[in-house]
This record gives sequence, structure tokens and C-alpha cells, in this order.
Amino acid sequence: MTPNTESRRFAAPVSGLRIEGTVALVTGANRGLGRHFVRQLLDRGAARVYATARRPETIDLPGTVPLRLDVTDDETVRAAAAAADDVTLLVNNAGVSNFTDLVTSDLAAVRAEMETNFWGTLAVVRAFAPVLAAGGGGAMLNVLSAQSWHAYPGTNGYHAAKAAQWALTNGVRTELDNQGTLVTGLHLGAVDTDFSAAYNGPKGDPAVVAGAGLDGVEAGSVEVLADDWSAHVKASLAGDPRRIYDEIRAGVV
Ligand SMILES: NC(=O)c1ccc[n+]([C@@H]2O[C@H](COP(=O)([O-])OP(=O)(O)OC[C@H]3O[C@@H](n4cnc5c(N)ncnc54)[C@H](OP(=O)(O)O)[C@@H]3O)[C@@H](O)[C@H]2O)c1
Repeated sequence: MTPNTESRRFAAPVSGLRIEGTVALVTGANRGLGRHFVRQLLDRGAARVYATARRPETIDLPGTVPLRLDVTDDETVRAAAAAADDVTLLVNNAGVSNFTDLVTSDLAAVRAEMETNFWGTLAVVRAFAPVLAAGGGGAMLNVLSAQSWHAYPGTNGYHAAKAAQWALTNGVRTELDNQGTLVTGLHLGAVDTDFSAAYNGPKGDPAVVAGAGLDGVEAGSVEVLADDWSAHVKASLAGDPRRIYDEIRAGVV
């Protein structure tokens, strides 16, 4: 059902954000994809980059402002939003997989995946939405996954959490366009970070994926499909779900 009040209508499409001169904040910035975002934000001329982590002492890139931010700890989220009150680009990158099955794995491990990927991202979004508004709208880049759109045995708790984070991204976009905030979702298949160390299939270059995400922000894209696998999985949603799972069983992924 569509609410019929003016204030709930979509505002005009939000345009892209030039990264040169922007003030950015990256979650999970100490390693993996997050570290690539930080490096490339600096390379693209960001005026300031808040590199946040659960343990800020592990931030090793010079030229950043390290900040403590555990997305599952409201106190650190609030403190980060108060300290970094000039942010115009928020990169919600922090994420975990505990390699769980929904039916048989420890439920606490499944909940923890939702806690970080969904509830943690939402906590950061809620804390920084007023900061972005105060800066004129800005942009938010949410790191999602091709697994937002497909299940895979052994990672289904993560799949459910990334699907929820995708829905969050779409919902927040409809709520923040009135304040002029671009909300971009970045989908990717496996890339070569600690996260995918146990996966033996083909892995993309995290630097390329981070670059694609930042290009998307600059172009004003609401969705970035960083690789062929993400594009293929998304396209499969329009067809019979059996097809993509037949492919997965046959080892296409
Ligand atoms: N690598 C892949 O194949 C792949 C594929 C699709 C999507 N992704 C997504 O890409 C994003 C980055 O993953 P990655 O590959 O760079 O993984 P990674 O190398 O394992 O790094 C994960 C980052 O998230 C941080 N993190 C975890 N829990 C956190 C919390 N509660 N608060 C703040 N930071 C937290 C970690 O910090 P610590 O050092 O403190 O643990 C680390 O900096 C994730 O959202 C992931 O879902 C990755």
C-alpha cells in the first residue's frame, strides 16, 4: 500500500557525489575491502577519511583519522557519529560470515550474522543520517553481496543477513531521498580477502570492487554489480529459481 501524503513521496532523483574534497567514513576499515576503500578515497582526493574499526590501533594507512566503531556496540556508534559530524560519504563495509546453516548451526552464530550485517548497519545508518543531512545529503555506500540474492549451503545465515541488508538499503533509500542522500548498494561475488580464505573457487580483486563502488557513488548509481556473477545472479531472479540452484549444484560458482 502506498501512503498518500506528499511527504512520503519520492523526492527527485539524487545525483552523484564527487569524492574529491568529500569527508568519508568507512566501517571495517582495518583490512580487506574496507582498507581498499580507504586507500582509494585518499587517492581520489577525499579531504578527510575516518578509518573506523573495532580496534582502531590496527589501522595502518597513513593520512586517515582512525576511530573506534564496533557496529554492534551502540555506544561506539553514537560516539563515532558525534566525533565525525562532518561526514558526507558513509561506507557501510563491515560484515561477517560465520559459515552457518539455518537448520543445524548454533543459533547464536546465525543471530550474530544478522547482528552485524543487518542490525549493525542499521545502527550506523540511523546515527549518521542526521550527519549526512546536515552536510547537504551526501551519500551512503552499502557493501552487500551476490549472496543477498542466492542461498548456498554452509553460508545461509549470511545469505539471510545480506538479503536483510539489501532490503534495508532499499528502504533507507526511499526514506533519505527527501534529504538528498544517495544510497548505493554494492553487490559482489567472492573477492580475495580474509573473509573468503576458505573458498577455493575464483576470487575477484577487492581493489577493483572498491573502485567500482566509488565509481557508482560518483555516477549517482543506486546499485552497482561489481562482477559478472552478481549480474548473473540478479538476472536469475526473474526466472525459475531452480535454474540458479541447478547451476550452483553443478559447480558454476
Ligand atoms: N570477501 C568476499 O568474498 C565478499 C563477498 C561478498 C561480500 N563481501 C562483503 O564485503 C564486506 C567486507 O568484507 P571483507 O571481504 O573485507 O571481509 P574481511 O576481510 O573479513 O573484513 C571484514 C571487516 O569487517 C570488520 N568487522 C566485522 N565485524 C565488525 C563489527 N562488529 N564492527 C566493526 N567492524 C567489524 C572486520 O574487523 P575486525 O578486523 O575487527 O574483525 C574487518 O575490518 C562485508 O560486508 C562482506 O559481507 C565480501
